Amino acid sequence: MKYHISTFGCQMNVHDSEWLARALDSRGWTAVPEDEAQVFIVNTCSVREKPEQKVYSELGRIAGRLRDIPEGFAAVGGCVAQQVGRGFFERFPFVRLVFGSDGIANAPNALERLAEGSDEKVALLDFVSLYEEREQAEGETVRIAETRQAFVNIMQGCDNFCSYCIVPYTRGRQKSRHPEAVIEECRMLVRSGVRELTLLGQNVNSFGLDKGGVGVSFADLLRSVAAIPGLDRLRFTTSHPKDIAPEVIAAFGELENLCPSLHLPLQSGSDAVLKRMKRRYTRERYLSIVEGLKQARPDIALTTDLIVGFPGETEEDFQETLRVMKQVEYESSFSFKYSDRPGVAALNMEPKVSPEEASDRLTRLQNLQNAITGNSLKKQVGNRTQVLIEGVSRRQDGGGTWWKGRDPAGRIVNLALPHEKGMTGLMVPARITEAKKHSLMGERTGEPW
Ligand code: 5AD
Ligand code: SF4
Repeated sequence: MKYHISTFGCQMNVHDSEWLARALDSRGWTAVPEDEAQVFIVNTCSVREKPEQKVYSELGRIAGRLRDIPEGFAAVGGCVAQQVGRGFFERFPFVRLVFGSDGIANAPNALERLAEGSDEKVALLDFVSLYEEREQAEGETVRIAETRQAFVNIMQGCDNFCSYCIVPYTRGRQKSRHPEAVIEECRMLVRSGVRELTLLGQNVNSFGLDKGGVGVSFADLLRSVAAIPGLDRLRFTTSHPKDIAPEVIAAFGELENLCPSLHLPLQSGSDAVLKRMKRRYTRERYLSIVEGLKQARPDIALTTDLIVGFPGETEEDFQETLRVMKQVEYESSFSFKYSDRPGVAALNMEPKVSPEEASDRLTRLQNLQNAITGNSLKKQVGNRTQVLIEGVSRRQDGGGTWWKGRDPAGRIVNLALPHEKGMTGLMVPARITEAKKHSLMGERTGEPW
């Protein structure tokens, strides 16, 4: 079958779609552009927006395409599928499968059955209490991305119930994978040529602290993965500040291939707002973690998530957030206007901040972030680093070919190299020569390896 997956949302969703694609490829299916597909899979997200509309219009377009493909059908996965569920079957008769994030492990088999002519409608919406292992590619080596980067799920779901967040409702309770399964997958990827791994989970710091736990903490897991011979770079995301263990902070000073970067969502710098968000840390505690991290690894680049306009947020609360941003000097941040999500506790919190005020705060916050990012990038000029090349850069001028990669902290570095091809996935020793608004320019100082 020829299939097309469209993905909305976060890194976890992108990773889920990649896994699904691999599982379908191994069944002899072929990924194609949308206008050639027989089977359409829409992987949805509802963390921040009201995405139902987007999903419905996507399905409307697919309906048009399916008119001329009698054997064709569609599947909807992810957060919106979890919420709307079988409702999709009534509204869109050509939707034959809905699956939530716990149901995805069984989606490839269900898709195969449907493609073989079964006329069932399949709903994989049950939450499970233990992580269901997903099938892995067989054999000694697997096909890896040209960039030689890979993501590995270590857990699924979340138990935190931050008052604004829909994730615990759509992705279910926290379920850790067995550490051996994680380590085995990492080993196999590195054996196959991967040099940068990112461990993924909604709250990786509480790895093992659920029914699936076997007494191996996140710090233990990190050490085991870091020790895999041939692994050049290790990252992980996302970390809830309340759960970050001293051993994980210390690891930044101890593990050579653990990259000096950490995404540590602050959400707000005001204790009053943090409390209503049910984040379970104070500004002071957060700042002491940051201090610990900077002590362990002075060149660590911190990034964060911020919400403005949370119900009841005053101008003074907002100023507190700006103050923390200045103090921490985030390398970059994702910032969002608070948006009501169905069923979450903040839905009933008052007073709501007006959309105009929230937009104004967001603009001010983003202006501050741009200034901080600019300063931090300028400080890199003159530094020596290693750039893992991710591909050819969009901008091309002057002699040579411009290539784009990342330094260990995750900053984008553009390099002019004499090679027109074959640099993706190589590490290039470089010196930073110039800072742009959101990226760096460098020159090669040694042999790529
Ligand atoms: N409104 C705005 N932002 C939200 N996020 C999660 N839920 C909401 C919401 N209801 C943001 C948080 C989180 C990121 C993934 O999305 O900042 O860290
Ligand atoms: Fe949502 Fe909070 Fe869990 Fe993050 S930690 S997924 S913000 S409930």
